[in-house]
Amino acid sequence: MQEKRSLLSIDAIPRETHDEASRQKYVSFLRKFIMSDLSSEMKDFYFKDVSKAIVYDDANKQSQTVKIRRAMEKTLFYKVWSSLRFNAQEMTWSSVQNQVERSLPDLVKVSKDAAKIKTDKASLSLDPNLEVPKYVSKLDIHQMPGCFHTEYVSGDVAVGAVYAHGTKVFGGAMKKSANPGKGGVADTISNYLKIKYPNFKPKRILDIGCTIGSNLLPYKKVFPEAELYGIDVGAPVLRYGHARAVSMNIPVHFSQQNAEKTNFSDGFFDLIVSSFFFHEIPTKSSKLVVREIYRLLSSKGITVHMELPSVHEVDPYYNFYIDWDAYHNNEPHYASFRKQNPIELLVNSGFKEENSYILHLPDRGGVSDHDFSKAVKGDGSPPKHGNYSSYYFFGALK
Ligand SMILES: C[S@@+](CC[C@H](N)C(=O)[O-])C[C@H]1O[C@@H](n2cnc3c(N)ncnc32)[C@H](O)[C@@H]1O
Repeated sequence: MQEKRSLLSIDAIPRETHDEASRQKYVSFLRKFIMSDLSSEMKDFYFKDVSKAIVYDDANKQSQTVKIRRAMEKTLFYKVWSSLRFNAQEMTWSSVQNQVERSLPDLVKVSKDAAKIKTDKASLSLDPNLEVPKYVSKLDIHQMPGCFHTEYVSGDVAVGAVYAHGTKVFGGAMKKSANPGKGGVADTISNYLKIKYPNFKPKRILDIGCTIGSNLLPYKKVFPEAELYGIDVGAPVLRYGHARAVSMNIPVHFSQQNAEKTNFSDGFFDLIVSSFFFHEIPTKSSKLVVREIYRLLSSKGITVHMELPSVHEVDPYYNFYIDWDAYHNNEPHYASFRKQNPIELLVNSGFKEENSYILHLPDRGGVSDHDFSKAVKGDGSPPKHGNYSSYYFFGALK
């Protein structure tokens, strides 16, 4: 039995004013309008008015994608859509910044109080000497001010709080809930594992690039006996994530480490996961990280990573559409990550090809339990990637 904590929920500290709440709602619905309604109109516009002028002279999806981008960039529709999307992205973070700044002293205090609580199942271990990789420190990834690592005050957690609240604004209006209380990447993949491998009982689970642990904590529900570990290079997000986990009474070992080379021993983990991680690091680093995953995984371990579908798996228009972030959203590695074949990435790191896989799953919150089980068993056609209704994963069994 775990000891009950009575720590204040760090998530609940930054309180929005009436006007801030309205602005956040506006931004959330503006994003939905851009990403659903306008995006679907833009697709119709492309096929009706633009595609016919493009000469496809080969079957190379990458060069077709470039042609589509060049043609679309000349159109007013794309220019307006892209500007709106860029502005909505900036507004997402700025809509929560004031409430975070106002409550920063309280946020830091709660995080410091949480850090004093030490058990053998929960800890926060920061490394002031860790060099934050330039691919994180030199830019504000997806325009989030301060990225994941910047510290403005001692013991800072601000960027963790901006991430926690900003991501709610970012996706809030788009999430579907046919299956209330369920859904999200971790809930989807942990329940996939439970259905697919009923005898799989991981002792230790590692989430790489865990940020504030949003897609790590849900594993405790499905695998209550497992010890959870989260690593990230950003100290403020780890402090925030640790305080959040303590207040939710979910024990996690958070540590500040570079996933390219960690301090864990060989075969330490039975399950290694990540979400929204690989597309933010250079391809050279992704190779090092997958090699490290292979080293860290136990002999019957499983690794699963939620990501963007590779170039080879989607049509050229969708390639053009999802690569927007690479050109306009401070995600310079996005397109080069997608050019890789995830199976090759795994095989080149030691995993057997026959044990490596690509998965398309519906979000567990968007379908009934029955339909989710059917999808896990591969019954029916796989869902298309996109807009929180379905996910793309790659992974392997060791
Ligand atoms: C988009 S965020 C991941 C989001 C998180 N997994 C979630 O589901 O909420 C990417 C994270 O990876 C971290 N990161 C980037 N490079 C890293 C590396 N080499 N080792 C560990 N963490 C890294 C960043 O600091 C950031 O917190």
